[in-house]
Amino acid sequence: MRSIIVPLIILVALGLPADADPQQQPSLKDAYKGRFLVGAALNASVFTGSDARDAEIVKAQFNAITPENVLKWEKVHPEPGRYDFDLPDQYVAFGEKNHMFIVGHTLVWHQQTPKWVFEDAKGNPLGRDALLKRMHDHIATVVGRYKGRIKGWDVVNEALDDDGTLRQTPWLKIIGEDYIAKAFEFAHEADPKAELYYNDYSLPNKAKLHGAIELIRKLKAEGVPITGVGFQGHYKMDWPSADDLDAAITAIAKLGVKVMITELDIDVLPPAMQYRGADVSLNVKLQPQLNPYPNGLPDSVQQKLAKRYADLFRVFLKHREDISRVTFWGVTDASSWLNNWPVKGRTSYPLLFDRDGRAKPAFDAVIKVARGASAAK
Ligand code: G3I
Repeated sequence: MRSIIVPLIILVALGLPADADPQQQPSLKDAYKGRFLVGAALNASVFTGSDARDAEIVKAQFNAITPENVLKWEKVHPEPGRYDFDLPDQYVAFGEKNHMFIVGHTLVWHQQTPKWVFEDAKGNPLGRDALLKRMHDHIATVVGRYKGRIKGWDVVNEALDDDGTLRQTPWLKIIGEDYIAKAFEFAHEADPKAELYYNDYSLPNKAKLHGAIELIRKLKAEGVPITGVGFQGHYKMDWPSADDLDAAITAIAKLGVKVMITELDIDVLPPAMQYRGADVSLNVKLQPQLNPYPNGLPDSVQQKLAKRYADLFRVFLKHREDISRVTFWGVTDASSWLNNWPVKGRTSYPLLFDRDGRAKPAFDAVIKVARGASAAK
């Protein structure tokens, strides 16, 4: 009797429903063992210990982690010469303690990078050499601190526009096209053994895919130390099609780089606009018709989401030789960024665990896909 009561007390203390014992559930990491790692993006509450429930889910289910925000430039290097490693240190310690593959996100991005990075002390635009030096010092300091511990870095994030051309960011405008190659070289210099990734969204779209192929081909031809390409995977119920995703993974893998799905979630809410990417600068006003499930997801939609997840995981499994990791962008629906983008204050349902930390039908569907493949072997 005692053996049942004690775990029940622990579950209640963690805020988990009594039937959601993470130890009793099948796990994503075991189901996909030998195929690819399964990861989650963590916000600080998970690895600082203030969200014990989500931490338990992460330990039971995932073998790879990505920091949702704490290693972005504005957080880790908020002012010239001042780095804040308190939270990143806790993030890395959490991953090591739990024997996880630890990812760094992200070194060079146009978002969440303070304005001062691109300006001199008087507020004038920096020149190429000065910005390259700043980029070098940032990468050397941040990657260098976690050398041998953070195993893979999103080195350059979202450098392409939706039409496949290079995005007009301050990095591009000040340094020129080789800012991407330089970022990879600096990261390699700081930790020669770390895997180095280019990471972007909407890669299954034709124009962007072609742009990415050109970019990766060029970097490889120049001998730039790039290991992999991250498909962010912020997907919708009707986009991308499994066929387009399949074709895009094939096309990128052919270039001789690893592929990973780095920020997976599936948005079931009505579109707030035509745009289907993940540009964080967009925002739309909250209206009731844009938030149709404030009190829970109807079973019919729950089942559709489960089927959609199963369809995507079938594609990932098919490419298991090329895909090294599939990472979800968050742990439960409660903390997903999609509750606040592109509309602030919606109730979103994009992940495999619900607001109470319970596994959703989509979780069972994803486990079933792995088991189906095992049975077929
Ligand atoms: O930390 C501040 C806090 O001090 C302040 O009180 C609060 C007020 O709004 O804001 C907090 O910062 C927020 C931060 O998340 C941490 O919660 C920012 O406003 C908010 O813009 C930021 O959003 C993040 C977004 O990237 C922009 O950095 C999301 O959490 C994060 O999920 C999202 O992740 C990106 C990937 O890095 C790249 N690919 C797309 C993906 C989804 O947008």
